[in-house]
Amino acid sequence: MKTRCISFYIFLFLFTDAGLAWAGDPFAGSAIYADHCVSCHGGDGSGEVAGTPSFRGGALMSKGEFELRDRVKIGKDLMPGFGGILTEEQIDDVVTYIRTFN
Ligand code: HEC
Repeated sequence: MKTRCISFYIFLFLFTDAGLAWAGDPFAGSAIYADHCVSCHGGDGSGEVAGTPSFRGGALMSKGEFELRDRVKIGKDLMPGFGGILTEEQIDDVVTYIRTFN
């Protein structure tokens, strides 16, 4: 019984948080990035503007999907929120895209 419970949680983890990590379309995401993000985050994701974190070197791989989506949606300090500008699907796409920087 115990092992079955554990498998259930592993299943939940894989198919909720981690599973969503690749739910977006990175090609659509790259166009959204070019329109809304490149001015600050740079074409290669290393950051153009002071205080902008780099997306390179796997820096985003340890971050949860909800954390990244919230950052894009709500913003923080100099980072504007895109909640009213991008749809949920577009936020998924762009988050999927920025995870491709390496
Ligand atoms: C006006 C400049 C600016 C624009 C435009 C901008 N960002 Fe940012 N972004 C920032 C700054 C500055 C930070 C760091 C915020 C902080 O932590 O204080 C940041 C942080 C982030 C983070 C958090 C990174 C981490 O390691 O936690 C993500 C994700 C992100 N931006 C994605 C995006 C996406 C996607 C877009 C386009 C839809 C975008 N940003 C547009 C300036 C910008």
